[in-house]
Amino acid sequence: NPEVFILAIESSCDDTAAAVLQKDKVLSNIVANQLIHNQYGGVVPELASRAHQQNIVPVIDAALRKANIQKEQLSAIAFTQGPGLMGSLLVGSSFAKSLALALKIPLIAVNHMHAHILAHFIHEEGFEKPTFPFLALTISGGHTQIVRVNDFFDMTIIGETTDDAVGEAFDKSAKILGLPYPGGPLIDKYAQLGNPKAFAFTKPKVPGLDFSFSGLKTAILYFIQKKKLENQNFIEENRNDICASIQYTIIEILMDKLKLAVKETGIKQIAIGGGVSANSGIRNALAEAENKYGWKTFVPKFEYTTDNAAMIGIVGYQKFLTGNFETSSVVSKARIQF
Ligand code: KG4
Ligand code: ZN
Repeated sequence: NPEVFILAIESSCDDTAAAVLQKDKVLSNIVANQLIHNQYGGVVPELASRAHQQNIVPVIDAALRKANIQKEQLSAIAFTQGPGLMGSLLVGSSFAKSLALALKIPLIAVNHMHAHILAHFIHEEGFEKPTFPFLALTISGGHTQIVRVNDFFDMTIIGETTDDAVGEAFDKSAKILGLPYPGGPLIDKYAQLGNPKAFAFTKPKVPGLDFSFSGLKTAILYFIQKKKLENQNFIEENRNDICASIQYTIIEILMDKLKLAVKETGIKQIAIGGGVSANSGIRNALAEAENKYGWKTFVPKFEYTTDNAAMIGIVGYQKFLTGNFETSSVVSKARIQF
């Protein structure tokens, strides 16, 4: 059995990413962020596809160079089939198809949501892999899901957001406070200096394991408007406490549902992923739950948790092992089920 080298391409949203894996080891993991969207306060799909067009060749070149791999050595090409923005997905899939055809190697389609979860199986010094079954909490600017993972490709969504993603809740709250996009990391920064109990925001009542964050955003907006009527400088004078209270509420919402999921499934292994997993408050809450409830939690290396191609590569490698390949007639899917 010769060496296996997988080239992976991710272009589902606003990051153009490519990675080279040698089996489950990452040789290179390159991401070109599209800063253009920051001035619009969110991702502009049309601009995203154009930027992918410009970035894709240099990003793939950089990934191969960094890995010190010639394209002729590649065993297969994996790409993100969906979910995501159609115009963005098409750039990655078209490139993957052409290159696989030219090199006469297998083409592998990857579900982006599988990838966020299976990123935990990338071989990385100092990081432990979960064992099946486990619960995955995927939290980012685009996703909020609790998934019961029975095996690599046997998983079911047991809870998800009915409106905004948790990252959006952070970013939209930050916007109300006049902070620049994406505001999640800034809320986290100020929250660490504030009192989480300073202000109380009501948590939404959503049945089962589903989430809702749009009500919280509205509650925060009304709260700020009211306080500013009393004191023009309310935000400036209370920034740390406001951020700490918002973050505390969001984390309570996530932890309440996780506790319920553990209770319902009896599974105590929790693997988190997505950009919001960088949040210091959620990390503290998970560490506390390990001690208090005997959970075992897994957080991947940060570069594998935000949108990246290494996670596409690890799914690609799993599918390579079972010969789960596509023909070039495979289509991108903006929405895709598990
Ligand atoms: O996974 P990601 O990089 O991109 C996708 O959305 O797919 O996640 C970005 C999201 C943004 O909403 C950002 O504000 C949020 O993750 N985020 C954070 C933190 N770091 C990133 N939210 C709260 N605290 C953080 N430390
Ligand atoms: Zn993602």
